[in-house]
Amino acid sequence: MGVCVITGGAGGMGIAIARMQGKEHNLLLVDVSQVKLDAALETLREDGIQAAAAVCDISDRGCVQALAERAAAMGEISAVIHTAGLSPTMASAPRIVQVNALGTYYIIEEFFKVMGEGSSMVTVASLATHMMARNAGESIHAVVDHPDDPDFEKRLNQLIDGMAVAGNTPAAGVAYSVSKYFSWRYTRRNALRFWSKGIRINCVTPGNIATPMGKAEEAGCARTAAHMAIKRYGTPEEIAAAVVFLTSAAAGDTTGADLPVDGGFCCCTTFPQVGV
Ligand SMILES: NC(=O)c1ccc[n+]([C@@H]2O[C@H](COP(=O)([O-])OP(=O)(O)OC[C@H]3O[C@@H](n4cnc5c(N)ncnc54)[C@H](O)[C@@H]3O)[C@@H](O)[C@H]2O)c1
Repeated sequence: MGVCVITGGAGGMGIAIARMQGKEHNLLLVDVSQVKLDAALETLREDGIQAAAAVCDISDRGCVQALAERAAAMGEISAVIHTAGLSPTMASAPRIVQVNALGTYYIIEEFFKVMGEGSSMVTVASLATHMMARNAGESIHAVVDHPDDPDFEKRLNQLIDGMAVAGNTPAAGVAYSVSKYFSWRYTRRNALRFWSKGIRINCVTPGNIATPMGKAEEAGCARTAAHMAIKRYGTPEEIAAAVVFLTSAAAGDTTGADLPVDGGFCCCTTFPQVGV
């Protein structure tokens, strides 16, 4: 059985993904919280699923490097599923940048070193990405396309502060959109490089999902639901099913793709809908 690494493995989506991947993989659940990991392992045990666990703050590159080495030592890595993240009600703008943007960068870079032919990675972005993608121009790309710049974190924070002032909006919300946009775009910018090693890399874009995070963002979810065809919370199992498909052989010709699981938000805000 190949190794399946799930970051944010103790979170709402992480556990649902572990349940679906657990029967056919050697699981490594990764989370910043030992308490949450213990509870997740117990939940999975009750379902007959065994998993190893690793505490790791993904915003610490040394920690992510050690994590990648540990995963590789467990056996051949077949999938890396990166769900760990923070939402605007959970953290300040600078912390959101560290976890959602830098954390994703470290996961992609460090696991690229240890993943091999036939494996695949899936990252989790957000519908906020699509709103950003429509408005992002050169000034944003000049920052988000250079994560290897030693000043990347500083420049990202400056960009976010400027956008928050200009839009008269809270910096944490802007940080979430910009950091998820980076994550989405960097995932897709890596399709060619990853395939040089025979690895696929894709992205899932959730809408409003019924997890602790989704419920904490109720006001924002109500605003975005107005632009969806399917005006309900998606389930963590619907995200897990999309992730399982993208990591499976059935998606063997799919890389650099974004699979929205968003009630039609991306579609309805892009294409003039018939009958409206
Ligand atoms: N729930 C939604 O409605 C929704 C919508 C769009 C996008 N998302 C994204 O989906 C992903 C999963 O969200 P969820 O709903 O399962 O949330 P969740 O809060 O249930 O799970 C996220 C997990 O990430 C972990 N985490 C946070 N910071 C970390 C760090 N520094 N290092 C390692 N782990 C860390 C948390 O402890 C938590 O267990 C997130 O990236 C989120 O931004 C969620």
